[in-house]
Amino acid sequence: MKLGTLVDLIAAESFVSGEEIASRLGITRTAVWKQVGMLRKLGYQITAHPRRGYHLAGRPDKLYPWEVGKDLSTQLLGKTIEYYDELPSTNRRAKEILGTAPEGTLVLAETQTAGRGRLGRSWHSPSSAGIWLSLILQPSLAPAELPKLNLLAAVALSQTVSDVLGLRPLVKWPNDLYCQNRKISGILTEVSGELGRLEYVILGVGINANQKVTDFPADLQEKAASLRMVTGRLVDRKLLLRNYLQVLEAEYFYALEHGFDRCLSYCRKYTATLGQQVEVNNGVKVYRGKAVDIADDGALIIDQQGERSRVIAGDVQPLPNTGAKEEHDA
Ligand code: BTN
Repeated sequence: MKLGTLVDLIAAESFVSGEEIASRLGITRTAVWKQVGMLRKLGYQITAHPRRGYHLAGRPDKLYPWEVGKDLSTQLLGKTIEYYDELPSTNRRAKEILGTAPEGTLVLAETQTAGRGRLGRSWHSPSSAGIWLSLILQPSLAPAELPKLNLLAAVALSQTVSDVLGLRPLVKWPNDLYCQNRKISGILTEVSGELGRLEYVILGVGINANQKVTDFPADLQEKAASLRMVTGRLVDRKLLLRNYLQVLEAEYFYALEHGFDRCLSYCRKYTATLGQQVEVNNGVKVYRGKAVDIADDGALIIDQQGERSRVIAGDVQPLPNTGAKEEHDA
């Protein structure tokens, strides 16, 4: 019996008797009692009243698959969910199940002990404070289109935050999101495939949702923030995640059919990068100049005293005294 079904049954009315649950689910009352015990261990507050039955007094702040999947209106993303209380890294787990897991599989962990960031960095992933997710995609795209897919994932998240929280984070090329000049989300995409074809894309997204400033390591406290710190309100992680999957899927399907123009226009409009003097390190070369455009293939265009360079991937740092943009109201 699925635990989510039992939660729904208890939640449907203010009280439901063990007898009624047993007959609805075709199980014994002892089995009901055991399952209720399991739900309590998972953090559900279920009270039992002698004549009236069970009552759901509270749900835990956990991204259980049946909670995330409830009312999720996607066709592909998150239709299969692997959920863990703890993992080294959701991207690493997604890599392990490539080939067996269906496309759209969502791997979630409440905490990651070895969360990975871009350029070999680590990603701090405290328990139940953020949303640490990986999605398995099989897009029919050429490898050269990957930078645009990265941007699309960031754009969809910016739109989702705007829809759900009424605050629009800026996209910092290549795919970070910033609020009040602090990073609130990062994306790490890993691919497998043969020449000319992307076979699998693992889209790893980290969203700082509910951390307090002291939850960040000292060296990140000036650079990172959570949505809770920015809005002053606790974020409903399930709601945010469900909405993100829906917006991301809509943008993904649209881009596969019509191309990435819409996503690129959004990026150019809500960017934290363009117009700034920046330093971009792509691991091979360091570019210093003004970030002037995002090209149609997702590359960043840097103007170095009239000479323009295209950067496909890298790490962007604003150069001092260049006045960063603020995020827009939704
Ligand atoms: C970055 O900005 O450096 C990218 C950070 C990506 C973090 C996410 S959290 C979920 C997924 N699993 C990982 O190990 N990393 C990504």
